[in-house]
Amino acid sequence: MGFPKGFLWGGSISAAQIEGAWDEGGKSPVSVDYCTAGSTTKRREIWYLDQNGQRAHRYLEPVDELDEGCRFKLFDDLHYTNHVASDFYHHYKEDLKLFKEMGYTTFNTSISWARILPYGMKGGVNQEGVEFYRDVFKTAVEYGMDPVITLYKYDEPVSLLEQHGGWRNREMIDEFVAFAKICFKEYKEYVNKWMAFNEINIIIPLDGQPSKKNQRNLIYLHNQLVAAARATIAAHEIDEHLKVGCMICGNMSYPLTPDPMDALKRYEKFQDFFCYSADTQMRGYYPPFAKRIWKQYGIKPQITDQDQKDLMNGKADFIGFSYYSSGVVTTHEIDANQTTEGNILGTVKNPYLKANAWGWQIDPIGFRHFLHIINDRYNAPIFDVENGIGLIEKEEDGVCHDPERIAYHREHIKQMRQAVDEGVNLFGYTTWGCIDLVSAGTGQMDKRYGFIYVDMDDEGHGDLHRSRKDSFYWYKKVIASNGEDLD
Ligand code: BG6
Repeated sequence: MGFPKGFLWGGSISAAQIEGAWDEGGKSPVSVDYCTAGSTTKRREIWYLDQNGQRAHRYLEPVDELDEGCRFKLFDDLHYTNHVASDFYHHYKEDLKLFKEMGYTTFNTSISWARILPYGMKGGVNQEGVEFYRDVFKTAVEYGMDPVITLYKYDEPVSLLEQHGGWRNREMIDEFVAFAKICFKEYKEYVNKWMAFNEINIIIPLDGQPSKKNQRNLIYLHNQLVAAARATIAAHEIDEHLKVGCMICGNMSYPLTPDPMDALKRYEKFQDFFCYSADTQMRGYYPPFAKRIWKQYGIKPQITDQDQKDLMNGKADFIGFSYYSSGVVTTHEIDANQTTEGNILGTVKNPYLKANAWGWQIDPIGFRHFLHIINDRYNAPIFDVENGIGLIEKEEDGVCHDPERIAYHREHIKQMRQAVDEGVNLFGYTTWGCIDLVSAGTGQMDKRYGFIYVDMDDEGHGDLHRSRKDSFYWYKKVIASNGEDLD
């Protein structure tokens, strides 16, 4: 027993969080290029000019367009961590070589839309961007990896937000499909596993309020679900060997008490946050409980006959997901000191679990449990795209010791192995942030996830040199033994 032969091992990164070179190679700016870093207690902020032309800032939200009349603007006195990030754009050969040294058989990154079509369809293709990714993927394949590539990950080209007003506009569907087709055609020689949208579910409303913002998010999500389906249809037409998965932000949660209302609330949260998007992508139609959600938020997305056909014909080929931590749900009143943070969602503290400095609760058993839930529900190949822990670390005398990261992955891989033994159809595992990069939520470089240290901090100090952490050698052993040697 154990992991099957050919199980994919590797790591995951994303364009905006690692590449830097924000204004090089013909790339146009993306929304996170206007964001500064937060801290262990503060999310990151986006800076802009408000309707009166005054400098303004607010927390970055999953929907990153600005209000009517506001404009994206950079300010000289602010530091933007994504501008340089880990500078993968100039270091990718070195980085891929390090991934190869760890023995990766896959790796996941995303393609920056703004490098391929910097000004959308009307601006034409940026060949320099196309060639950059061609070399990244070609090199990865030469190094023995079978890359799994994400098309869209938290880096909306500002030019498209300005042209179309963002995802409220169905023209974004055509823009996205045009982008996807270019990628499928250009890279099919090297990439046959794709994912359309990273964590497509994170814009789903959860507070139960029929606000304009929540209604807007449901429309956005519908347009993205249709865009993903159409891109999947296009991939299959371009080459029948291409597989396109969905990628859903995982959510494992427990009711705080045995109160049936807590149990129901937990289940509804799972339906809303995870299944609304995953069911639609995996089954080709909205689940029955979507009616409850639309009623609750006072909206019915405009679903055309063509949309319905496309959702059905463009079902995802596999289910990808991220898993970092678990949460707790209750209908009872709780004190503010009983809450903590989690990936995307704040939650109630679980007294049985420890958390990292950002309050994300560490739950390897929840990982196994969650794998079973997905396996039972979708009966499809599963790919764990992201799993990792953010830590504050320092390099001392050229070395970074990271026993907590090793312990985190050891326990999660143990549970994953047990899930596979128990019948879960998992075909690959990529750890999040196999090399240090910019945090999506707080914009910090100092929230480190990598097996490889990158010398750069939140203020822009550092020479970007790379060094192998202890976890680098540990993961290398894990891969060489196909997940058997976890000591
Ligand atoms: C996932 C995202 O949800 O969480 C990644 O897909 C992100 O982009 C990761 O980096 C960890 O979150 P954070 O906020 O610590 O970067």
